[in-house]
Amino acid sequence: MTTVTTLGQFIIEKQADFPYAKGELSRLLRDIGIAAKIVNREVNKAGLVDILGDNGTTNIQGEGQKKLDVYADEQFISALRSGGECCVVASEEHGDCIFIHSEISKNAKYIVCIDPLDGSSNIDVNVSVGTIFSIYRRTTTEGPVQLKEVLQQGVCQVAAGYVVYGSSAMLVYTTGKGVNGFTLDPSIGEFCLSHPNMQIPRNGVIYSINEGNYIKFPQGVKDYIKYCQVEDQITQRPFISRYVGSMVADIHRNLIKGGIFLYPTTSSHPKGKLRLMYECNPLAFIVEQAGGKATDGYCRILGIQPESLHQRTPIFIGSTEMVEKVEEFIRLSS
Ligand code: AHG
Ligand code: MN
Ligand code: MN
Ligand code: MN
Repeated sequence: MTTVTTLGQFIIEKQADFPYAKGELSRLLRDIGIAAKIVNREVNKAGLVDILGDNGTTNIQGEGQKKLDVYADEQFISALRSGGECCVVASEEHGDCIFIHSEISKNAKYIVCIDPLDGSSNIDVNVSVGTIFSIYRRTTTEGPVQLKEVLQQGVCQVAAGYVVYGSSAMLVYTTGKGVNGFTLDPSIGEFCLSHPNMQIPRNGVIYSINEGNYIKFPQGVKDYIKYCQVEDQITQRPFISRYVGSMVADIHRNLIKGGIFLYPTTSSHPKGKLRLMYECNPLAFIVEQAGGKATDGYCRILGIQPESLHQRTPIFIGSTEMVEKVEEFIRLSS
């Protein structure tokens, strides 16, 4: 009889890693896990309930919101409000921070940045989507939390994770002491440890990029794509091209198999498309903790000093040797 370790048990077991924390971070992760199960329930029956399609509204990004974008956003914010451990939420779906003022949250010390539903374009076609979250501690206990406390470098995260709603629902997270993956067992309604101590292979043969933007990529990226496509037995090229269109799904695959995900600058997104605070930083924290690398082509993602809540950045993330190779091409071409 194999022993099952649930997410809740694991969090409590790992509690000892945080002498300063008195269970608050554990409770916060538990609250996120509960919201993830609720969202998964809707994702799983999306075709049968009125949760597909457009919501008829536009978010701060100028994106048409999907019903599931709004539903997921509501569920995670509600869980964070009622959990009492979070004092402010920065969500992809809201222009400004959501400050939580309630009796239960009056001493809350955690800041959460969240992409409630990642890969929205895939919702209506039954392709994997995800949720991404990033957790910081307040930088002061003086007075109400301020925006500048939210705009911390990624290296200051105390925890980060994602949920991938795919062939199974998985929650993968780190608190800075390695990466662990949990698979939802619907028969008991619990996320159970299935991928302990996840390590991304140092090298890989999968590259993941929207080649539709090729013509507008920086020259170094174009050179790297051509490098991936050239026959070479020693380096097992040509590499395999895989692109889901949900960042979480593409990075989750590379975390397990090895590979690189690239979202460079493009004509429609001259600063890159993906958002630093709730897509790039949390995924960079996870991939680095699993032994990989994440840069904007020149600098470590986790070292970028955020200037605004929804700022975007180019990102090259995955197996260290693959990220270093594309950095080499970018350097050579500049
Ligand atoms: P979101 O659905 O949260 O807005 O994120 C979508 C992102 C990311 O998940 C994915 O990697 C990328 O957009 C795909 O962009 P393209 O369709 O431009 O390739
Ligand atoms: Mn979006
Ligand atoms: Mn996203
Ligand atoms: Mn999103």
